[in-house]
Amino acid sequence: MRALFAMPAQSPSPTVRTFTSGAASSAPVGIFDSGLGGLSVLRAVRAQLPDEAILYVADSLYAPYGERDDDFIADRTLAIGEWLVKQGAKALVVACNTATAQSIALVREKLPIPLVGVEPGIKPAALQSRTRVAGVLATQVTLRSVRFQGLLERYAADCRFLCQPGHGLVQAVERCDVGSAELRTLLRGYLQPMLDAGADTLVLGCTHYPFLDAAIRDIVGDRLTLIDTSVAIARQLQRVLDQHGLRAITEKASAALPRFYSTGDGTHQQQLAATLLHIDAAVQQVQIPSRRTAAPDSQAA
Ligand code: DGL
Repeated sequence: MRALFAMPAQSPSPTVRTFTSGAASSAPVGIFDSGLGGLSVLRAVRAQLPDEAILYVADSLYAPYGERDDDFIADRTLAIGEWLVKQGAKALVVACNTATAQSIALVREKLPIPLVGVEPGIKPAALQSRTRVAGVLATQVTLRSVRFQGLLERYAADCRFLCQPGHGLVQAVERCDVGSAELRTLLRGYLQPMLDAGADTLVLGCTHYPFLDAAIRDIVGDRLTLIDTSVAIARQLQRVLDQHGLRAITEKASAALPRFYSTGDGTHQQQLAATLLHIDAAVQQVQIPSRRTAAPDSQAA
């Protein structure tokens, strides 16, 4: 079983900010991740909003973020958000749990466009677990973040969450490994203790992990319901675009292929998009300088 639940990261403020940047509904939506994981969100966005043009940035030169320090992640998230605004993005999906956990509030404050973030599906897991034991796979930064601890406090009162940092999993997906023997051994080491503890639910708390669903399923069979939030994120994006009058209006059956950018060489991005998303699109390498460090990130774009 796989469950798709609504757990987009919400704005802390209930007030709706008005964006007066002149963004047109025909402008693209920006989607960003530390690397290739956000492609799982892009897949859901394309299914939900086929008329939207998309710019996707993978910060593969700096992936994984999950073991980086907080300032570094905030800095990269803001730099890429600003870059996407300059490319004309009308809205931004921070398709990275780690970047959302660490810096969504800061980036929301600084960027002149609406934002959608992602966070692990703790609430839906707590709602649907029968054994009241659930596993969470996420990066170390996500698990130790104040936002994540807040989610546990809010929703996990009578449910035990076994939180496991997925060391090595992002790196595997970044090299397009979604099923090698080494990867399966790594996954088994993370999942078996959850099964032994009686978990019936697994939160995929990193956007890279949905690409490992077949490997996970081979190990756990039907014993764990997987909680993947990508469809919920796409629905939240739709709501946000509607709220701001930014939905694309087109007579065409669907928008063009996404425009892919990478701070790495883009080879694996192109390969993963082709094999798992059936999107055959070139990846343009870009340099997006860090805002805080002069070197080695200071090459001009
Ligand atoms: N896809 C990112 C996330 O959702 C991976 C973070 C990383 O690069 O470690 O957390």
